[in-house]
Amino acid sequence: MTTIGTPLSRHATKVMLLGSGELGKEVLIALQRLGVETVAVDRYDNAPGQQVAHHARTITMSDPAMLRELIEEEQPDLVVPEIEAIATPMLEVLEATGTVRVVPTARAARLTMDREGIRRLAAETLGLPTSPYQFCDSLAELQVAINGADGHKGIGYPCIVKPVMSSSGKGQSKISGPADVPTAWNYAMAGGRVSHGRVIVEGFIDFDYEITLLTVRARGADGQIQTHFCEPVGHIQVNGDYVESWQPHPMHPQALAQARHIAKTVTDDLGVGVDGQPSGLGLFGVELFVKGDQVWFSEVSPRPHDTGLVTLTTQHQSEFELHARAILGLPVNTALRSPGASAVIYGGVDAPGIVFDGVDDALRVPNTDLRLFGKPESFVKRRMGVALAFDADVEVARVNAKLAASKVRPRAA
Ligand SMILES: Nc1ncnc2c1ncn2[C@@H]1O[C@H](COP(=O)(O)OP(=O)(O)OP(=O)(O)O)[C@@H](O)[C@H]1O
Ligand SMILES: [Mg+2]
Repeated sequence: MTTIGTPLSRHATKVMLLGSGELGKEVLIALQRLGVETVAVDRYDNAPGQQVAHHARTITMSDPAMLRELIEEEQPDLVVPEIEAIATPMLEVLEATGTVRVVPTARAARLTMDREGIRRLAAETLGLPTSPYQFCDSLAELQVAINGADGHKGIGYPCIVKPVMSSSGKGQSKISGPADVPTAWNYAMAGGRVSHGRVIVEGFIDFDYEITLLTVRARGADGQIQTHFCEPVGHIQVNGDYVESWQPHPMHPQALAQARHIAKTVTDDLGVGVDGQPSGLGLFGVELFVKGDQVWFSEVSPRPHDTGLVTLTTQHQSEFELHARAILGLPVNTALRSPGASAVIYGGVDAPGIVFDGVDDALRVPNTDLRLFGKPESFVKRRMGVALAFDADVEVARVNAKLAASKVRPRAA
């Protein structure tokens, strides 16, 4: 049974978001609507989610001592990681000692915080199909991994090099020949989240399309955890960052069945906590590459996914509402309401406190909506908002979402 208290009272149900960007902001709004008391944590003040939560805290979330102190002070019922750069081993300690419950599990947060944990789990432990890969700690190792040595076949060309700790395509590059390898190594060293020189090199998968399969572990009426799937979200990435997404993306029945099998296998495993119990709840974004009826696992977020912003307009319950409901032990409904699309609005300018012109023109595009995230500072390539559109024809929705996004013009104030 789920009981929810009154916010700001002694019996409040209190949830702490670790990371309060645009995705966390929507989760916080969904929680607020269910009467939950919310704490929004980020590394800088006035992060999007901090603007809508009951409490805002600013700390270095990768610092284990600071993280422990904050959790012990606030005593939330649930801790919900929204980003990867968190002191996850400390979360495992706090979960193991019963101090707090982590969503979906502290173990999932740790395994997905760098590319190595999740890739080895998916490919080596679970036997799921992935691109061929190797981990390297130096340029020389990288060259051997790609070109091979001593009769060992290398990964070959083209391939992709990524820092093990990075997201949104940072430090990531595609290599088409030996001359590109040193450049890719240096780029990865500059773009990683922390200065430790480890990269993954992956064989390039020449996929027809890629999807995010939003997968929810939620409690059913009998108390058992059930797995639910949203319709596939198609998307386009530029330099490793999402620029456009739509739902549903049509799939061969066989490819869809395989995609669901992969998603179920990996989320079943990530749903197991440090105590060995499969009690992890919440929504996951499972990233998959598809060619014909062949499907490869790429990576997974144990939380709402940026490409899933489209569900704000396409589903009865957005991915954020699904996450909020699932983690509270409430039932979920993943049904599609209408096909639709999302298109990213970049800052286009490096400046604090920017303004957005043309918002009215954008919203005059039929069946559109907008989210302006409220980030205090803009960068040329920072995601500052998203345009949403629905239409019975997903292609029309894509055109309209992009049109609406193009009409919003950020500029320095
Ligand atoms: N092995 C590969 N073969 C082909 N394309 C790839 C491969 N790896 C990555 N890509 C492309 O680069 C994109 C970003 O890669 P990936 O998801 O690993 O990076 P990321 O930095 O974690 O991105 P994000 O945080 O936005 O999910 C993928 O969505 C895909 O378009
Ligand atoms: Mg990705």
